[in-house]
Amino acid sequence: MRRLRKANLRWMFREARLSPEDLITPIFVDENIREKKPIESMPDYFRIPLEMVEKEIEGCFEKGLRSFILFGIPSYKDEVGSSAFDQNGVIQKAVRRIKSEFPDAVVITDVCLCEYTTHGHCGVVRDGEIANDETLPIIGKTAVSHAESGADIVAPSGMMDGMVRAIREALDAAGFESTPIMSYSAKYASNFYSPFRDAAESGFKFGDRRGYQMDIHNAREAMREIELDVREGADIIMVKPALPYLDIIRMARERFDLPLTAYNVSGEYSMVKAAIKQGWLSDEAVYEILVSIKRAGADLIITYHSKEIAEKLQ
Ligand code: PBG
Repeated sequence: MRRLRKANLRWMFREARLSPEDLITPIFVDENIREKKPIESMPDYFRIPLEMVEKEIEGCFEKGLRSFILFGIPSYKDEVGSSAFDQNGVIQKAVRRIKSEFPDAVVITDVCLCEYTTHGHCGVVRDGEIANDETLPIIGKTAVSHAESGADIVAPSGMMDGMVRAIREALDAAGFESTPIMSYSAKYASNFYSPFRDAAESGFKFGDRRGYQMDIHNAREAMREIELDVREGADIIMVKPALPYLDIIRMARERFDLPLTAYNVSGEYSMVKAAIKQGWLSDEAVYEILVSIKRAGADLIITYHSKEIAEKLQ
């Protein structure tokens, strides 16, 4: 076995490879700030003011990163998340700015209500419950408003049943039949999202998300979730989080032929960054983690490590 492990040839026989083209960079756009603002629970990650969003994209382009997923921190919130579909909402404005300066950028928008509702849940609340069907037209409207602003791909993350179909129908009716849907198909009710909720101010005021996000014990159920999304018209499927769910990524890869994205989430990022900052781990660990996600079968990875890794890959 050691013949092919010699230093000058081992690179030729890699079964999985990582390139900047595999990486999708999350961007937090905050309508309420004028300067970049560090996110305390996510070392070296920032919220970006609207005015600086083009500059942020430019920095990524220089590193070979050309696809982005946008999250918004709006200037107002209400019970039904109206600022999510406001034509002058933070995401709509950010997409227009990015696409007018960087038409080649791939702009993916997260379609969810939790950043835009006062209660912080991903759907409309009725009698203390998250009302599934009442939420669907609102996320349909949100996706259309993103497409109208120029979004290349919409990515529903709220885990409402029927969300992919509702968005597909809304997009088609509005003339956006060529806008693809990347669905957060198998999204678990995970502890690893807590730094994100800090970053996006999307923490919930009561209860938790276990009524709509998946039970962490289940793998077969993830295949059912993906199957439903495929039937409803998803173009790209997703497993989230990534590292604690490599088995799910592998299963999905074997079972489905659609492009598969894995979301290397905020908690996965923060724990490895914390260990590196302490000097307990080398930063090579980041590369190893991302390679493991590709080796498991993901085509694309959404990751907060994209900039540091792209720099090394160049
Ligand atoms: C919104 C959303 C969340 C994440 C992506 N979209 C938070 C949540 O579901 O609570 C988490 C991303 C991360 O932790 O990096 N629904």
